[in-house]
Formats: sequence, C-alpha cells, structure tokens
Amino acid sequence: MTEKTAQKTAIVTGAARGIGLATTKQFLAEGRRVAMIDRDAEVLMAEAGPLENVLPVVCDVSQPEQVAAMIDEVAEKFGRIDALVNNAGVADFGPIEETTFERWRTVMATNLDGVFLCSQAAVPHLKQVQGAIVNIASISGLRASTLRVAYGTSKAGVIQLTQQQAAELGEYGIRANCVAPGPVRTKLAMAVHSPEIIAAYHDAIPLNRYGSEDEIASVIVFLCTEKASYVTGQTIASDGGFQSTGVGLPALRV
Ligand SMILES: NC(=O)c1ccc[n+]([C@@H]2O[C@H](COP(=O)([O-])OP(=O)(O)OC[C@H]3O[C@@H](n4cnc5c(N)ncnc54)[C@H](O)[C@@H]3O)[C@@H](O)[C@H]2O)c1
Repeated sequence: MTEKTAQKTAIVTGAARGIGLATTKQFLAEGRRVAMIDRDAEVLMAEAGPLENVLPVVCDVSQPEQVAAMIDEVAEKFGRIDALVNNAGVADFGPIEETTFERWRTVMATNLDGVFLCSQAAVPHLKQVQGAIVNIASISGLRASTLRVAYGTSKAGVIQLTQQQAAELGEYGIRANCVAPGPVRTKLAMAVHSPEIIAAYHDAIPLNRYGSEDEIASVIVFLCTEKASYVTGQTIASDGGFQSTGVGLPALRV
C-alpha cells in the first residue's frame, strides 16, 4: 500500500455546518482524510478552506448522478473509502393535512433517498477495506410525535435501512449503524424549535439540556472505528436519556 492510500478516510455528508462539521473535525483529529459533502457550496468552501486533509465536494445527496460523480471523485482522490457518514438532513414540521406531497417528497429525497444513494454508490469501495456506514436518524424516528409525519417517517426509514444494510453487507465485513440524536442547537433544529418546544424538551430530557454537536459526533466517530468492530445493525440514541424515559407523566414526578 502506498503512503497515499495507507491513511484512513471518511465521507461526511452535510459537512458544511452543525453535526456534520463537528464530525469532520473529529475525524481529522483522529488522523483521517475527510471528504466534506454538502449542497451549500458557499458555506462548504468557507468552512473547508482553513482545514487540512479535506476534500470539499459540492453535491446534492438526493440526486443520483451527483452522488455517483461525488463517490467517483472521492475514490479517485483518496484511493480508499473507509467510512461513510450519511448525515445530510432537512427538517420540516407540520400537521398531516398541511404537509403537501411536495413537502413530503423534499424531506424524503434528502433524508431517505440520500442515505440509500450514497450508501449504494460507496459499497464497492467500502467492501475493499471492510468499511463502516453510520446513518444519522433522530429520536423522531424512534417514536411518533405530532408534526413529524414526513420527518419522523423519513428517520424511521433510516433506522430500518440501517438494519437492511447491516444484514446484507455484513458478509463483506461492512458494518452499518445508526445514531439517533436528541435536540442539538443547530440551524436545522432552531428553524423548527420554538421557545415552547425548547422548554418542553428540557423538561422531558433527564439530562435537562440540549446536546452539543461534538457529543453527537463522538458517537458517530466511535462507530466508525475498530473500537466498534463487533457492532452492526444498531441504533444508538445520543439524546440525554429522552428515548429511555418515554412520555413523562407530571403526576409521577418526585
Ligand atoms: N439538530 C438536531 O436537533 C437534530 C436532532 C436529531 C437529528 N438530527 C439530524 O442530524 C443531521 C444533521 O443535522 P444538523 O442539525 O447538523 O443540521 P444543519 O442544518 O445544521 O446541517 C445540515 C447540513 O446538511 C446539508 N444538506 C441538507 N440537504 C442536503 C442535500 N440534499 N445534499 C447535501 N447536503 C445537504 C445542509 O446544507 C447543511 O449544511 C440531520 O440528518 C438531522 O436530521 C439533528
């Protein structure tokens, strides 16, 4: 193996900001080269500019041709793909009757189609190095709640897709896992979390706070490393305990 191909690599989608940017920086700190994928060219280039060992690629993960070209470019420049983090996501909260088919499709296109497309295109390269896939779902994919008919359903699909990938790709040594974050104060969350929603989350989360981008990123990076070499098909909620407690009944509070 040449010097160029000995260094491990990762692809992170939605890497221009939020959880994807934090994950990129943690991979870099681990000594990996990182392909930063995002459709927001301006922000992507601004964030990637000062970083070393990154390959920024402008790509909309919901577009099959763009995804194919992106994976080809990364494989060509890096020589190997050890990890794929399907993090790009969009949020759109609304009642069932107000969720037009267009809004539904927009959410599905990035959150579910994007995970399918990027994973499928990366598999031939992941096979060569027994690589890892980590898909980013949400606590909204683990249980139903109001206003999340599209977002929640897309994220539940991501959890099932992860299990399908684990079942089928295990024979190649490829692991597939899922991280389900609780609320993190990123641009995505702040666009749909009103002050009332923020207060309600604090109330329902045992750790009584939002998580940070780095707290989600460290679970993602862990699942990509040898330390998780016998973990596949799992969904780990990094959510301050929200999922484990379910619906809190005020009358049962101590
Ligand atoms: N922030 C939260 O509270 C929270 C909670 C649960 C799950 N998540 C999930 O975590 C992931 C990251 O979210 P975030 O909060 O960091 O969001 P963010 O909006 O800060 O960042 C998402 C990034 O993805 C990019 N992106 C969106 N659609 C894309 C597409 N089709 N192709 C390429 N890039 C695209 C955006 O340009 C943006 O840079 C998402 O999948 C989200 O659903 C977030």
